[in-house]
Amino acid sequence: MMEVAEKGKLLVDWASKEMPVIKILKESFTQNKPFAGLKIGACLHITPETANLVLLLRDGGAKVFLTASNPLSTKDEIVDYLRNYEGIWVESKRGESNQEYYENIRKVISNQPDLIIDDGGDLISTMCSENKTISSKVIGGCEETTTGIIRLNNLHKEGKLLFPVIAVNNAKTKHMFDNRYGTGQSTIDGILRATNILIAGKTCVVAGYGWCGKGVAQKAKAMGAKVIVTEIDPIKALEAVMDGFEVKTMEEASAIGDIFITVTGNIEVITDKHFNNMKDGAILANSGHFNVEINVEYLEKNKISKRKIRDNLEEYIMPNGKHLYLIGEGRLANLVAAEGHPPSVMDMSFANQALSLEFLSKNKTRLKPGIYDVPIEIDKKVAFYKLLSMKIRIDELSEKQKKYMETWNLGT
Ligand code: NAD
Ligand code: ADE
Repeated sequence: MMEVAEKGKLLVDWASKEMPVIKILKESFTQNKPFAGLKIGACLHITPETANLVLLLRDGGAKVFLTASNPLSTKDEIVDYLRNYEGIWVESKRGESNQEYYENIRKVISNQPDLIIDDGGDLISTMCSENKTISSKVIGGCEETTTGIIRLNNLHKEGKLLFPVIAVNNAKTKHMFDNRYGTGQSTIDGILRATNILIAGKTCVVAGYGWCGKGVAQKAKAMGAKVIVTEIDPIKALEAVMDGFEVKTMEEASAIGDIFITVTGNIEVITDKHFNNMKDGAILANSGHFNVEINVEYLEKNKISKRKIRDNLEEYIMPNGKHLYLIGEGRLANLVAAEGHPPSVMDMSFANQALSLEFLSKNKTRLKPGIYDVPIEIDKKVAFYKLLSMKIRIDELSEKQKKYMETWNLGT
């Protein structure tokens, strides 16, 4: 038992070396205790990077209640380490059922947190629909991901969001790095660990050319894949074309692809008509937040047989005799089959989380229920600290330049 926790500690310490912004915040939070006396409920992928965030919040005076944001993304050694070495309240285990997943979320809520961090909206939506009294006392929350923000915006439109939520995903120092470079690299990592295939020469179909899709397409291309993008937004589709990718409908692409990767945040992006078109041996991976992008239910209902080939890789034999290979049950391939984003990008995402929580705790009487942007000062501070840690300096505006940028009458 202790051996597992020790393994977790090594992983957390190793990750911390690549999280210099969190380290800078640790010095100030330890001294100033911005969360003294406050309880923070957190629903996050339980990884070494998350452990570093939780320890930062604890050092800032908070009592943290942590549960997982996906039943398959928890690293059990990190749970053990946080619980047994650090005395943090944490409930989750990898492979828990959906019922256990929601029981753990409800346990976090029953501890009546003052502040919330969510990744995907399960904690906040459960709280606001099932525990109105506890929710109405919450100072505020932060949401980590694109899908969570869409869900919480929809909840707010129905008048059911009961406290202010900061859309951390929308900070530039979050999505430009985490969604793009983090998801790009770690999704390819997940596919490689699950399959050990060569990417070079394969045709890789990327569904969605948003922040994650751009990263995945870029990394797959860099490894020698022929990349086809599918989109529903004409502007994003055009961007993909001008970035040098082929753009096709999923119906067209389904007959050509060797590897399919969904990152749309949408439902049934790959479904029966596409499965039927696919080549024998096609590999299916999803890195969008929920396991709804590839219609796994259809595969389950219609398969002739299914078997486990390797860790996180299952083979489905379909009625047309073709073999389809699904990574990580269609859940986030980068977190299930690999280790999620590297700590260097989580450093910025979680610095935005920590500073946004501090902002909420300072502004508790001013903010009404709704979705708020991360204040630009926080976004710039995170970039400034990250550059500082890389020993990179940038130019400053001269007085003359500042004045010039404020004029309109100096032309040709
Ligand atoms: P985004 O809004 O920037 O991009 C999504 C893109 O998908 C958009 O361009 C949209 O037009 C396109 N799209 C929607 N429906 C489609 C369909 N049916 N077919 C093809 N394209 C379609 O979002 P994002 O930030 O790139 O996030 C995408 C998903 O990844 C979300 O679920 C998000 O929560 C998740 N995410 C996962 C990780 C991870 O670690 N795996 C990290 C960040 C975000
Ligand atoms: N989301 C994507 N990668 C992650 C990581 N390493 N830790 C926590 N959340 C993540």
